Amino acid sequence: MPPEHTTARPALSRRFSVAPMMDWTDRHCRFFLRLLSRETLLYTEMVTTGALLHGDAARFLRHDDSEHPLALQLGGSSPEELAACARLAEQAGYDEVNLNVGCPSDRVQNNMIGACLMGHPALVAECVKAMLDAVAIPVTVKHRIGINGRDSYAELCDFVGQVREAGCRSFTVHARIAILEGLSPKENREIPPLRYDVAAQLKHDFPDLEIVLNGGIKTIEECREHLRTFDGVMLGREAYHNPYLLAQVDRELFDRDTPQVGRSEALLALRPYIERHLAEGGAMHHVTRHVLGLAQGFPGARRFRQLLSVDIHKTKEPLALLDQAIELLQGR
Ligand SMILES: Cc1cc2nc3c(=O)[nH]c(=O)nc-3n(C[C@H](O)[C@H](O)[C@H](O)COP(=O)(O)O)c2cc1C
Repeated sequence: MPPEHTTARPALSRRFSVAPMMDWTDRHCRFFLRLLSRETLLYTEMVTTGALLHGDAARFLRHDDSEHPLALQLGGSSPEELAACARLAEQAGYDEVNLNVGCPSDRVQNNMIGACLMGHPALVAECVKAMLDAVAIPVTVKHRIGINGRDSYAELCDFVGQVREAGCRSFTVHARIAILEGLSPKENREIPPLRYDVAAQLKHDFPDLEIVLNGGIKTIEECREHLRTFDGVMLGREAYHNPYLLAQVDRELFDRDTPQVGRSEALLALRPYIERHLAEGGAMHHVTRHVLGLAQGFPGARRFRQLLSVDIHKTKEPLALLDQAIELLQGR
């Protein structure tokens, strides 16, 4: 007898995930990353509650079935609106909904979105509770270890403690503070020092919580090392710039014996998706801009990047150009 729910998905693992990144982890990027790793949890770009409730929700929620396991990241601070958006995420089939309490941009601060919410733990707790009450999928929080003016360990524990009381069980910790005035979002990912020790202390003091470490992780070896302390690791920039790293993840971090996909194989597997996108009136570079790092470290890497970032804008035969790029990767 086949199981009753043959389409039921296995329990969500956050052992390895790719971070939410605006303008980067769009649906095309995620489709491509999924060709490299079956097990990695993927996050969308942040979508604000305003965009989802008053904009083109179908466009913001659009994803391919193959992208699972897949989490939607929300930006907002109204419990009612977040609950409504969590419901939309669940209805659209997302496996998790994540609240952004880490983004330091001015634009979002004015709307009480992102890292500034670390200064309002009771409000975050209220938001999380409203979301948890609205949906059956997990609700998680991605945050920093503090913000300027509220960066003591006691304040971090107060934040995590209040959000835990609201029912949240999984926290992704970008292990540096955010400085809300004077630094750009980019500088806020580079200048405040990484404090893995603070994140580790948090795991030690909240052993019942799932704590996922984020910030500055670059290799599978570093992931393995951090997984001795943390429940999961989340990679952002390295996963984007060196996506082939993901091809090792299933074997090395999930103990799966699936064969590692080759670089050219992955790009070849993307071809039908690109054909569909072109048939819908899209441009090839919408998709291939996310694969530029695939040849990283090889003699043909420059040519590969040039084909897909410069020549692509001049050609009338994008698929022929894609085939040239695939050929460059062959045997790699
Ligand atoms: C281009 C870009 C966009 C980002 N957008 C978001 C976002 O929408 N939501 C969020 O929580 N973090 C965002 N981040 C932060 C990342 O999720 C991550 O926390 C940060 O890059 C640190 O991890 P890393 O050192 O592995 O890159 C963004 C980072 C980058 C580089």
